[in-house]
Amino acid sequence: MKFYIGSDHAGFAVKGPVKEMLEKRGHEVVDMGPDSAERVDYPDYAEKVSRAVAADEGSFGILICGTGIGMSIAANKIDGIRAAHCHDYYTAQMARAHNNANILCFGERVSGPGVIESMVEAFCSTPFEGGRHEGRVEKIMALQKSY
Ligand code: RB5
Repeated sequence: MKFYIGSDHAGFAVKGPVKEMLEKRGHEVVDMGPDSAERVDYPDYAEKVSRAVAADEGSFGILICGTGIGMSIAANKIDGIRAAHCHDYYTAQMARAHNNANILCFGERVSGPGVIESMVEAFCSTPFEGGRHEGRVEKIMALQKSY
């Protein structure tokens, strides 16, 4: 799988370890920044990662801020993005299986390293189930086209 990854200052400390985790599992990772823990605005990195994912069919994204909330709100403004704000293995698994999420968002200030690893693992290893979920996801994408 190919991942674009980004954070703000409040997610910077775990961006490196998550990148390593993905690379160890054989995934390709493009780091969209930032390069230091200096204060930045999360919408800027949400936009960079989301535009890259939307333009690169079949790719995925990971966005980390303090809570995961701001990143997910901003990412979901970009056409083609289904960003899921997850908290644990189950929500990350369902984000892929039912919602066909293409970006995983979480918060460094609210999730410990073990939980983060389990969310990344679930997101990478769970395929979209399709079937009855297909039409629902299509309805979500149609909402973006309606304005
Ligand atoms: C930064 O202080 C914090 O607001 C940000 O990382 C994020 O949690 C916003 O949703």
